[in-house]
Amino acid sequence: MINIDQKRRQFLQYASLSTLAATIPGFVFARNQGANMMPNPSFKADVEIILTAHTADIPILPGSHTHVFKYTGKLLKGPQETLKELPGYLGPILNFEQGQKVRIFFNNQLPEPCITHWHGMHVPQMMDGHPMYAIQPSEQYLYEFEVKNRAGTNWYHAHTHELTAPQVYQGLSGLITVADELERKLELPAGEYDIPLVIQDRSFSSGNQLRYILGMHQRMRGFLGDTILVNSQKDYAVPVKTRAYRLRLLNGSNSRIYKLGWNDGTPITAIGTDGGLLAKPETLPYVMLAPAERVELWIDFSGREPGSELTLQSLTYQGASSQMGGGMRGGMRRDMGSGMGMMGHAAGQDEILTIAKFRITGQVSDSPKLPAELVPVRRLMAQDITHPDKTVPIAIGMRHMSFQLNGGTFEMHSYSDIEKIPVNTIQKMKIFHENRGMGRGMGGRGGGMGMMMSLPHPIHLHGEQFQILSRTHNQQDSGYDSVKDGFINSGWKDTVLVMPGEEIEIAKPFSDYPGLYLYHCHNLEHEDMGMMRNFFVS
Ligand code: C2O
Ligand code: CU
Repeated sequence: MINIDQKRRQFLQYASLSTLAATIPGFVFARNQGANMMPNPSFKADVEIILTAHTADIPILPGSHTHVFKYTGKLLKGPQETLKELPGYLGPILNFEQGQKVRIFFNNQLPEPCITHWHGMHVPQMMDGHPMYAIQPSEQYLYEFEVKNRAGTNWYHAHTHELTAPQVYQGLSGLITVADELERKLELPAGEYDIPLVIQDRSFSSGNQLRYILGMHQRMRGFLGDTILVNSQKDYAVPVKTRAYRLRLLNGSNSRIYKLGWNDGTPITAIGTDGGLLAKPETLPYVMLAPAERVELWIDFSGREPGSELTLQSLTYQGASSQMGGGMRGGMRRDMGSGMGMMGHAAGQDEILTIAKFRITGQVSDSPKLPAELVPVRRLMAQDITHPDKTVPIAIGMRHMSFQLNGGTFEMHSYSDIEKIPVNTIQKMKIFHENRGMGRGMGGRGGGMGMMMSLPHPIHLHGEQFQILSRTHNQQDSGYDSVKDGFINSGWKDTVLVMPGEEIEIAKPFSDYPGLYLYHCHNLEHEDMGMMRNFFVS
């Protein structure tokens, strides 16, 4: 993956960085000239962890072991349950408590640069894993932050410049849970009744090695694997008892979007989203889960027959890959799909996939009941927006075979005027598809590049989480009906799936911390292609 240009490019980054640091007096860029090494003596850590990224050979499929990248943790200080190692390639689950001060020594034992981002966590810029902080093999980066988040499920993963997709694909990710007092009062299912499910798709060679690359068209769409793994295991099955469970789902896939439902038609009961618990449970027929999104489900197996099974599936939908012919006419779409291999019929979004099976093995007589109310969620309203008449745009576009945000691709330290955000404000932002370029020097009407314009994009904003104010759809014949009942718009979010033809307004606080905070598409192939920009918060 690594090329000879890497060193030179990094040199150039640092060069441009010192120029920039010089023009922004007192700003913190200067500290990244080397890795962040020195513990801050006035930061009294409650938890200290060594987290090492390294290569490993682990059993995934029967037969040969698979070569992966993996995070391994070691707890130096703090409660024993802070760190929970899992079998497979996923990193340990980091179980944090709101208010804890956390120090993490991140070691890079990979043969290439790396940096780690705490996805969903509200932390200072230097602790956010911006790719400008990538460290070289055998270097160390020191993270120190206070856990400010509400109770919920977050995650961490590699965020290395132009290497995020292959590094995450090879295994560099893990879950973070945050607990708090409000959550504890609810007495939700805990311990063995609180199950993490990290859903990822992979492809394997006949020798059991991970296969990744990717022609130009696949790159544009994003990687789709033919094998579903949950918690890095194939054919995931969990033995359960006749009682209620809390399931913490993360879509840790590079680009696959799941439409999750129960195989017997039981509705989905959601109790949490990216930003933690909802105000009250929501019931929906299925839930859409795009890369990086989390959803927490409540499922009660009470009254089910021992020996029976309930399967979590990904259902079929249109509006993503199988409908990529945004500008195409009717029947041509299918041909384009199979003919050009763009849709990837290998586990496309037009077939039902088994995600995980729950086998009822034990009978118990008692089960917690689903609370009618969960935790207070303050809804952000028009009057909470600092400048109600100003909307910060996030325009999804495409030029020169590359996806863009607000008319640009990623530049390590740069931002434009519209990307300047005053700190401690709440901004209204609008995420939308700009159609500039379509049919103009881009392959003409409907053909060629026009097709690419109508892909779904999961847009992620670093820093504090946001709320969805509105979701509008204005495109005919896009398959939207097959996904529209699967969105949860009420909770705190850090990633929002923007379907073709959709326009989404959000309210996002930028509290506490100045600095460069990324926003990008969490289709990791799109991100690595440059569909990422900085907000400069000051
Ligand atoms: Cu999960 Cu900037 O990413
Ligand atoms: Cu995208």
